[in-house]
Amino acid sequence: MKGWKSNINETHFVVAILMVWLSSCVLVRAQLTPDFYATTCPNLFTIVRREVKRALVNEMRIASALVRLHFHDCFVNGCDGSVLLDGNDGEKFSNANLNSARGFEVVDTIKRSLESACSGVVSCADILAIAARDTVLLSGGPLWRVPLGRRDGRVSNQTEANNRLPSPFMNIDQIIQKFTDVGLDTTDVVALSGAHTIGFARCSTFSQRLFNFSDTGAPDKNIDTEMLADLQRFCPPNGDENKMTALDRNSTDLFDNHYFQNLLNLKGLLLSDQALVSNGSVASTTKSLVESYSRDSKLFFSDFVNSMIKMGNIRVLTGTDGEIRKDCRVVN
Ligand code: HEM
Ligand SMILES: *[C@@H]1O[C@H](CO)[C@@H](O)[C@H](O)[C@H]1NC(C)=O
Ligand SMILES: *[C@@H]1O[C@H](CO)[C@@H](O)[C@H](O)[C@H]1NC(C)=O
Ligand SMILES: *[C@@H]1O[C@H](CO)[C@@H](O)[C@H](O)[C@H]1NC(C)=O
Ligand SMILES: *[C@@H]1O[C@H](CO)[C@@H](O)[C@H](O)[C@H]1NC(C)=O
Repeated sequence: MKGWKSNINETHFVVAILMVWLSSCVLVRAQLTPDFYATTCPNLFTIVRREVKRALVNEMRIASALVRLHFHDCFVNGCDGSVLLDGNDGEKFSNANLNSARGFEVVDTIKRSLESACSGVVSCADILAIAARDTVLLSGGPLWRVPLGRRDGRVSNQTEANNRLPSPFMNIDQIIQKFTDVGLDTTDVVALSGAHTIGFARCSTFSQRLFNFSDTGAPDKNIDTEMLADLQRFCPPNGDENKMTALDRNSTDLFDNHYFQNLLNLKGLLLSDQALVSNGSVASTTKSLVESYSRDSKLFFSDFVNSMIKMGNIRVLTGTDGEIRKDCRVVN
């Protein structure tokens, strides 16, 4: 009888432990929250907004750079600030980032201001997420509440960056694969590609389309004639491949849905942009999304926000994992 009773107690105990364990798993999975720093760094949003505004007054293009940094952070080892770490074997020197990723000085400035307001509290990964939101907003895009509470990683892996980030030379299936690899879907591909409504790209990222595309001896047929002539002048063979031109030629600094209108007019700059409306079974899904977004900027904005929040959740470090970096360029 005694043994039986204590067995029950033991069972209760085990069940209780299991429940605590299960609920802590649920907590870890859903830990990001917009008011994470409400008491520990109450002026966080004011400070980030002020520094981003200053940076934009100085150079409007910094907006696009900051949005892209958050994307490149999240796709490689999750959103853990790893793209910000200095070091020759780090992500900064990967194919997609070398001579391309920018905005690191702005992140440094934001971090310095935050360290003097609330030292050792706000992660670099969260700074990237807030700065991306602020630059979208200040460029005319949507406002949303950014889930927070990410912690910073200690590793920046160049090989991983080369493996994980999509390249502008990929076809639509390959691009979608890179997104599914990190838990995102086809809608996310199209909505997030809409970030190319701001910012610039170098000749090296699209010049393969201009003269001898896929060894056909002719340019890519899916480029508007006038735009093609213009780009051929801008990026001649053996010219400076680092020259930059607008991803959205209609409204470069404005976050709007012209990117999608451009695609339907064969005015996508990158092969990977135009691929969203190419022919094929997968592309019929992406194409109908492009058509919807091109007609309905409210729909684009709300899908973009959803996808940014999803992207911002990729493999985040929370709780006691990782650290809060003091300097975004080096681990503590
Ligand atoms: C779908 C796959 C994607 C590919 C293949 C791609 C590729 C590229 C390339 C090649 C550039 C030009 C870089 C240079 O020449 O230095 C670029 C710029 C940019 N990308 Fe993407 N991208 C993709 C998705 C995204 C996503 C998901 C975002 C953000 C949510 C994004 C945001 C940007 C921004 C804002 C710029 C302009 C950067 C600047 O002006 O400095 N891209 N992208
Ligand atoms: C970087 O990632 C690759 C796989 O992409 C892995 O083989 C390697 O061990 C990683 N390096 C570090 C330092 O974590
Ligand atoms: C296009 O490139 C291919 C492969 O490099 C080459 O054989 C061909 O001669 C080129 N065509 C033209 C017109 O330059
Ligand atoms: C931008 O797009 C709008 C709407 O489609 C169009 O009226 C305008 O002419 C375009 N501007 C440029 C510079 O292409
Ligand atoms: C797709 O296919 C249609 C019909 O075959 C053709 O008219 C159109 O030019 C193609 N579009 C692209 C982007 O390849």
